[in-house]
Amino acid sequence: MKKVYLIGFMGSGKSAVGKRLSNVLHVPFYDMDTEIANRTGMTIPQIFETYGEERFRDMETDFLHRFQDEYCIIATGGGVAMRAQNREIMRQTGLVFCLNSTFRDIWRRVSTDKNRPIVQRSTRDELEILYHKRKPLYLESAHFKVETAGRSLNEITQYIA
Ligand code: S3P
Repeated sequence: MKKVYLIGFMGSGKSAVGKRLSNVLHVPFYDMDTEIANRTGMTIPQIFETYGEERFRDMETDFLHRFQDEYCIIATGGGVAMRAQNREIMRQTGLVFCLNSTFRDIWRRVSTDKNRPIVQRSTRDELEILYHKRKPLYLESAHFKVETAGRSLNEITQYIA
């Protein structure tokens, strides 16, 4: 087994699916945001506020470059697939699964979340525009597309496993 990368928009269930998959496959799980937060000793909103978004994006790319664990499941941040360099690393070092949720479901899950700076600074319409802008890039990065609408966490996990 290679690395498994879970990609997709915020709130598409990458972390929840990653954890469950890790239990089913007995493979370590890493959440990229958590790893970056642990390494810097700051929360994601603090990183955005202190260093700006671009520096956070560099941290994501650094993580992909230096991550050595060969067999693991990684839930990426929703912006990771936006850089061509990141897309290339993921496709070359693992299997990439895109979790595809409807914007309606996403909004329901993230709209009140204080830990996502992109959500905090956006209106619903702005976030929906970003969702549509990013969608082709997720699909371009992925080896497999997983529709989440109407499926339970278990069903999604079983499909990937
Ligand atoms: C971001 C998604 C977040 C986190 C950061 C930026 C994005 O991760 O990396 O807030 O640009 O889509 P999740 O997709 O896990 O929420």
